Amino acid sequence: VNPRLFTFVAGESGPWKIQEIRAVFGEGLAAAPSLDVVNGVPMGVVFPSWQLSGVTSHERYVNRAEKEQLVAVQPALGRPEATCAVLIPIRKHPRWWALTPDERRRIFEEQSHHTAIGLNHLPAVARRLHHCRDLGEAAAFDFLTWFEFAPDQAAGFDRLLAELRATPEWEYVEREVEVRVVRRTAL
Ligand code: HEM
Repeated sequence: VNPRLFTFVAGESGPWKIQEIRAVFGEGLAAAPSLDVVNGVPMGVVFPSWQLSGVTSHERYVNRAEKEQLVAVQPALGRPEATCAVLIPIRKHPRWWALTPDERRRIFEEQSHHTAIGLNHLPAVARRLHHCRDLGEAAAFDFLTWFEFAPDQAAGFDRLLAELRATPEWEYVEREVEVRVVRRTAL
């Protein structure tokens, strides 16, 4: 199994109960009762409602100072109290992909302050970013973003979403779906 490959499977079983699937921009995703997060590609899942794969990767935009700040405060996934999670698949417009890395960094951080805004919500939120374009096959999304937090941090997470969606970076987002889940069983 490629340790960097993760697949989100929506279907009949899984440790996460899907509470809501909301289309934010563009087309949504089909309803399903449960979500499973699988390292690799699941074998023998019969007719999932949908499944999305992506790989974790090296950083593209953070500088040294930002990376050190992140490492100092970012929590690991799987904390027992973090029983709420949100999967947010995102696709950006071809205009974004036509930019150069320095142009993208300028929009991402100098104009939108993505990392700076995000850092304000750590360590409440644990996160993992997956890239879909690196899998080499046509995919419905460019990124699968995954966030875990305790129930009493849910309002803070909603504020984070509102802050990020008001930035210039989000003018390039053409499809975004929120899949909100809660853990069925204790860790
Ligand atoms: C919880 C606080 C958050 C922090 C600390 C954070 C931090 C970061 C950092 C550092 C990167 C850049 C990684 C790199 O250098 O390649 C990044 C990328 C990204 N984040 Fe966040 N983020 C947060 C929340 C969010 C949320 C809530 C969303 C979705 C609504 C989101 C969506 C993305 C996407 C799509 C990318 C990839 C952007 C691209 O490569 O074009 N992030 N995030």
